[in-house]
Amino acid sequence: MAILIGDTAPDFTLESTEGTIHFHDFIEGSWAVLFSHPKNYTPVCTTELGYTAKLKDEFAKRGVKVLGLSVDKIEDHAGWAKDIEETQGSALNFPLLADTQGEVARKYDMIHPNADNTLTVRSLFVIGPDKKVKLKIEYPASTGRNFDEILRVIDSLQLTAKHQVATPVNWKNGEDVIIVPAVSNEAAKDKFPGGWKEVKPYLRIVPQPQG
Ligand code: BEZ
Repeated sequence: MAILIGDTAPDFTLESTEGTIHFHDFIEGSWAVLFSHPKNYTPVCTTELGYTAKLKDEFAKRGVKVLGLSVDKIEDHAGWAKDIEETQGSALNFPLLADTQGEVARKYDMIHPNADNTLTVRSLFVIGPDKKVKLKIEYPASTGRNFDEILRVIDSLQLTAKHQVATPVNWKNGEDVIIVPAVSNEAAKDKFPGGWKEVKPYLRIVPQPQG
């Protein structure tokens, strides 16, 4: 059965380049990104993993742990990691799972038989500290993902979790946000003492809360 936003992220225990990962223990108290790529030693994957490594500080700032998944063997990860460092200028600095039996890939529906029977597509899940799935995206093998967009979504998710605001179309960190419909005007007066702009009763704009 497909995993949907709001579902509890399935737990698993699997070997990685940084030892055994017990996924729910790995998440404990943090946000997490779990992402798959089709295969080691492929060009698009090489660029994605290098760029994700470069974003280490950005993920850390947001309290996010990153975990990659590949259907290749641990032994194959080491040589590829060297290539990633050499060609992308950043060494792998997050664990990469070796899902050789496809156990996690199946749990997370990362294998699409009509695309390829054995390789994972580019799936990515953002999981909250409550272990619930907050974002799920899938890209075809030939299209590298935009990890700046992943950070943008995490910023939005974290604002919603903390301040009960939503983010409008093409929002970027620092821009105005929207008070979620579940917050009444009465409650909004306490939460947003600086007031808001009421474009429509259901469209209330406030500056992005800080902190
Ligand atoms: C790649 O990562 O470069 C790739 C993988 C499978 C198909 C096409 C591209």
